Amino acid sequence: MKFICRKPGEKSIEIIKRDQKVISQSLTREYSFVFKMAKGCHVWDVDNRKYLDFGAGVAVVNIGHNNPVIKKAMLKQIKYGVHCGFSDFYAEVPVRFSEYLVSFMPNKELNNVFLSNSGTEAIEAGLKLAKWHTSKKYVIAFENSFHGRTMGSLSLTKSKPVQRERFGPFLPVRHVPYPYYYRMKMDKEECSNYCLDELEKEIKKLKDDLAGLFIEPIQGEGGYVVPPKSFVKGVRKLCNEHNVLLCDDEVQAGCYRTGKFLGIENFDVKPDVVCLSKSIGGGIPIGVTIANKSLMDWPAGSHANTMGGNLLACATGIESLRYMKEKRLGENAIRVGKHMLKRLNEIKDKFEIIGDVRGIGLMIGIEIVKDKKNRLANAEDRSKILCNASEKGLILLPAGKSVIRICPPLTLNKGQADLGIDILEDAIKDAKEVA
Ligand SMILES: Cc1ncc(COP(=O)(O)O)c(C=O)c1O
Repeated sequence: MKFICRKPGEKSIEIIKRDQKVISQSLTREYSFVFKMAKGCHVWDVDNRKYLDFGAGVAVVNIGHNNPVIKKAMLKQIKYGVHCGFSDFYAEVPVRFSEYLVSFMPNKELNNVFLSNSGTEAIEAGLKLAKWHTSKKYVIAFENSFHGRTMGSLSLTKSKPVQRERFGPFLPVRHVPYPYYYRMKMDKEECSNYCLDELEKEIKKLKDDLAGLFIEPIQGEGGYVVPPKSFVKGVRKLCNEHNVLLCDDEVQAGCYRTGKFLGIENFDVKPDVVCLSKSIGGGIPIGVTIANKSLMDWPAGSHANTMGGNLLACATGIESLRYMKEKRLGENAIRVGKHMLKRLNEIKDKFEIIGDVRGIGLMIGIEIVKDKKNRLANAEDRSKILCNASEKGLILLPAGKSVIRICPPLTLNKGQADLGIDILEDAIKDAKEVA
């Protein structure tokens, strides 16, 4: 049996063996952590080892693991029923969830909600809506983007070749460069202008057949890439000038991860369509697509699903949103995120393999490179660091070619942040000693 890093504990081994027999191995396990339980910013494996969690179940538990408000909301809803068949019948809880959710939107035009179960479904709904509303065929997405893995959203996704290999043909999507200026070896503004020029050319080519454009305000899976403000503003301007729907993928950046409720608010841009998922349900699956009522003009039967509007998901969604707002988790994300960025930048100066540290709030990426000058991706050392960190009790995730992604629960405090960074620094030192 092959283990990804160290040999895990006996109970972990037993479960990994069973997993390898019965579970599709198309998943992306980076190391051998076997979940037993979680609370707040900590997780435990089945061999009872405790870890500080800088991954939050892939940016899902913004309100912390196993938050009591979720348990309470579930227990309350279970008394009445968990599923109502919302595509065919009416119910108050999904309506209340949607009413509450639209009050978080930066512009009141975003007032109509389509409910689903995951990020990819939220994107599918946005994609189909853009096509239906405009009656046009093409959409634009960005190089290095990740929007999901079902065939529509996968047509937009272009972050890793393995995600697309053998799955074509795809829907009509044109990909244009995203300002990953660190990798493109350009200065910020030069890169922003170059990408906007490329985008404009493509928009002009597709002129009469372009339904919409999908953008992650900060690229997630692609490597936690923060674009220049001028770029996101420029995208909005081009969409306005050419009558293109700006569809904002907030699946990873949304729900206060970057301080603001929507990541795109950091760039002073208002989208036409918003897709959210991951953290809204506090760990229970839910996806939402939000647009203006006049845009959601598709007729009955044109788009629906069985589980969307699930009562349990909507009940937990309300409490998750309320918790994030009342506990001001956005402000905490900014405060703790700034502190982490400062410390990580200090660490960057000590190691030749740390090429870049970037992020907003608690969405932080560390680019691991061969050396600072050549900036070549260094996936090997990145893996070693992730493994070392897990052995020392810190859960981290990868992103992009060789980025370490930091996306802890937004409840993380400064002390926990410091402890995690100390472990990370040790893990980097050890990776270099092993090399
Ligand atoms: C920006 C973004 N969009 C869409 C998705 C797809 O979400 P899901 O995995 O829930 O289908 C993800 C998942 O990581 C994501 O990060």
